[in-house]
Amino acid sequence: MNTLLSDASASRPGGDGEPTNPTLVIRGGRPLQGRVEVKGAKNLATKAMVAALLGETVSVLRDVPDISDVQVVRSLLEVHGVTVDDDGEGVLRLDPSGAVSAHMEEIDAHAGASRIPILFCGPLLHLLGQAFIPDLGGCRIGDRPIDFHLDALRAFGATVDKLPSGIRLSAPNGLHGADITLPYPSVGATEQVLLTAVRAKGTTELRGAAIEPEIMDLIAVLQKMGAIISYEPNRVIFIEGVDSLRGYDHRCIFDRNEAASWACAALATDGDIFVGGAKQPEMLTFLNVFRKAGGDFDIAEDGIRFRRGGALRPVMVETDVHPGFMTDWQQPLIVALTQAEGVSTVHETVYENRLGFTQALNKMGADIVVHSEGLASPDRRVPRRALEQAAVITGPTPLHGADVVVPDLRGGYSYVIAALAAEGTSHVRGVEIIRRGYEKFFDKLIAVGADFDVVA
Ligand code: EPU
Repeated sequence: MNTLLSDASASRPGGDGEPTNPTLVIRGGRPLQGRVEVKGAKNLATKAMVAALLGETVSVLRDVPDISDVQVVRSLLEVHGVTVDDDGEGVLRLDPSGAVSAHMEEIDAHAGASRIPILFCGPLLHLLGQAFIPDLGGCRIGDRPIDFHLDALRAFGATVDKLPSGIRLSAPNGLHGADITLPYPSVGATEQVLLTAVRAKGTTELRGAAIEPEIMDLIAVLQKMGAIISYEPNRVIFIEGVDSLRGYDHRCIFDRNEAASWACAALATDGDIFVGGAKQPEMLTFLNVFRKAGGDFDIAEDGIRFRRGGALRPVMVETDVHPGFMTDWQQPLIVALTQAEGVSTVHETVYENRLGFTQALNKMGADIVVHSEGLASPDRRVPRRALEQAAVITGPTPLHGADVVVPDLRGGYSYVIAALAAEGTSHVRGVEIIRRGYEKFFDKLIAVGADFDVVA
């Protein structure tokens, strides 16, 4: 039961009077127990919405999460003339029949809001022969360049001009298939190639592709639309361009990042959380690490139950592209590892700046040292770059309440778990970022028995 709202300045989580970028006042130190449902993956739903622009008929997308990234993409589709209807239950109906060129100012209003707009390039070039993409947003977890995207678009025959306020692209004579090798299996660049190649003239061979389950689900969406896409061993995707595509009807793959986050919340707080909608195959790698760290889980037809199986144990983890341990999982895992008996190492290889969030955990009593050198890994896919960093976590350390500011989506979620595991009261400020990727976040916290107020 929710025992909140004693503070006169607090408002009911999710209620009308809720502030726009609130602070959570969290009283921690008790296990989280209960059931949460995960819906469609943020990292698929938003891309499938962009794919609807490629169809000549209406698309229907199901299990769409109610998060602000979806709102940004919806709004950008709408300014391009796509009609989007929402049934309020996670089903979007996207009608691209009125798609038009948008006004620069309308597009620019989305600057800095999300990274998804970069994926509008191919569909808009096919539809209109030109595109303008505003400055990108998203979490500040590294440089996050878009060179792979732009190189791929040039290979398809697009002209790319970088402007102070964004990127202008044109392809008056259409786009043609290309042979592209990505220097690193980037998720976004792979999606860029897929969304562009399906309607390009001729065939495209993509080497060094990302093969995350969300990418496979995007391929499924595109195949439903009429695309011809095959994949081969060793990260090769082969796309035969077609003249036209139709709309799709698709249920999004579940959000395995959200599922892993709630699993780590159970581990960190010695709780017991059933994550409805979570599935085993897409989480195999996570589940292995969860078990090695002392977690236990039961796989059910409709979800996965997560809890501790005994004392928490230290682990050595290296983040990687699929099928490796996802970078998005390391932040909540690190919170749980502060309670493991011994020294854990988490080596972040995907982003340059995704361990900065640990400073605030140290403020809460954790013992985490971040090294600028990573572990030597003979088979790393990218040459040694400055981005390798390793967090060395020594536990167990009791956590205590603190005043912290949310740095990014996953880091912010991790602060909330840390505050819930900590003795005493914490203030977690700027939680709106968390709701960019975790739908009905406050409701779910209540469902697992978290004790918190939402204040302005
Ligand atoms: N990279 C480049 N050049 C490029 C593209 C990427 O150098 O043109 C580098 C990036 O800077 C990064 C690495 O390649 O160091 C991987 O980036 P990738 O393109 O794979 O990531 P992304 O597509 O921008 C998506 C998710 C991220 C998730 C990563 C890795 C979305 C909207 N975002 O980002 O999700 O961490 O893949 O799986 O799909 C999150 O959900 O919190 C999140 C950050």
